[in-house]
Amino acid sequence: MSYIAGRRVVLGVCGGIAAYKAVELTRLLTGAGAHVSPIMTPGAQRFLGQTTLSALASEPVQTSLWDESSPIPHTRLGQNADVIVVAPATAKIIGKLANGISDDLLSATLLATRAPVVLAPAMHTEMWEHPAVRLNVKRLDDWGFHRVGPDEGRLAGGGDSGVGRMAEPAAIAAAVQSLFADLLSDDLAPSRELAGRRILVTAGGTREPIDPVRFIGNASSGKMGYEVACEAARRGASVVLVSTVDRAVPGELSNIDVVRVDTADQMHRAVAEVFGAVDVAVMAAAVADFKVSNAASEKIKKAGGPPNIVLEPTVDILAELGRTKTTQIVVGFAAETHSLLDNARGKLVQKNADLIVANDVSAPNVGFHYDTNQVTLVDASGDVDLPLMSKQRTAAAIWDRIEILLARRSAATGRST
Ligand SMILES: Cc1cc2nc3c(=O)[nH]c(=O)nc-3n(C[C@H](O)[C@H](O)[C@H](O)COP(=O)(O)O)c2cc1C
Repeated sequence: MSYIAGRRVVLGVCGGIAAYKAVELTRLLTGAGAHVSPIMTPGAQRFLGQTTLSALASEPVQTSLWDESSPIPHTRLGQNADVIVVAPATAKIIGKLANGISDDLLSATLLATRAPVVLAPAMHTEMWEHPAVRLNVKRLDDWGFHRVGPDEGRLAGGGDSGVGRMAEPAAIAAAVQSLFADLLSDDLAPSRELAGRRILVTAGGTREPIDPVRFIGNASSGKMGYEVACEAARRGASVVLVSTVDRAVPGELSNIDVVRVDTADQMHRAVAEVFGAVDVAVMAAAVADFKVSNAASEKIKKAGGPPNIVLEPTVDILAELGRTKTTQIVVGFAAETHSLLDNARGKLVQKNADLIVANDVSAPNVGFHYDTNQVTLVDASGDVDLPLMSKQRTAAAIWDRIEILLARRSAATGRST
């Protein structure tokens, strides 16, 4: 589903090496149906030809306050925009915006708008860490400007590496999508973008029996997994939901087939049965890492003293899917209490997943039991921090991202989306 179809996006491009990535970003935004009006700073024009961007955008690049037929070009674009995206955002434009300076078309447009602004900073680590830049970025963050990145990685020039690399275009496009997903009213009908797709979702926490009445479990409520399954069904997919919990599925979503399981082994079997036939597998369940190998067949009596519980590893379902996948998109969840992004990036690689949805379950109003969540989407093209929002909205943003991955895979394999 595209939340930006028909939206007017002003894309500001500044003078940095990453300006070339604005080409791919323009392609992604127009491909999702947005009307893209590009503005290039004089600096940007030293890095990128206007012709390329004009050819891919919805209208020609604008560069100057003075060469337009409109008598007030400095306000027209900003007033008409639904969102302004600046990618790459240099230290200079960040400084100008944070200090109310308007001395060219882009900075004037940024001051003359009430539309949300998404900034994708790009610069060398020394610049990013300079106290002046830190102050300007903090000021913009505090004022509610949206920011994607910068990422850590290779920077331009002499093999430099560090924080300051611009977020990947797909991550920026997904952030713009999720911005509108969050702004949209609940009653908006979703698209049927997943019609014809088969989707597997897991939900809830597994229960590993100690005896017939006791188990080792976890705090997962299954809400997030259910929202992921329901959103896929709303978008037209046929969904198999393997769940340890019984939650209500809206009556109109008859295209969700719920398979009830309790243990990690049962979940593994249920997943393995359908994985070969699906397009996407979203593993939202919290699966036990260990099961009890000496579970008692009768209730353990207190009088016998503390039982000696022996544990053995369960099958790592996500890793198995990553190992055996062919064309499927495999999505995992990482609920962490520390080193969130390091753990999520590690999981992405180790499990050969295509996307990890990471959430810090120690943060307020996030994760288990709550109806809200705040997640970071981590994939090979970078990280997208989503705001705190309902689990339904979070599920929609996750599917926006998966749809981009599906479209890319279809393009690579020649299958139509
Ligand atoms: C090769 C080269 C690469 C540059 N890369 C960046 C960059 O990534 N980020 C940045 O803030 N400035 C970068 N600069 C400096 C900006 O181009 C310079 O500050 C310019 O005035 C920015 O103007 P603008 O933001 O209006 O486009 C670079 C300069 C050169 C010559």
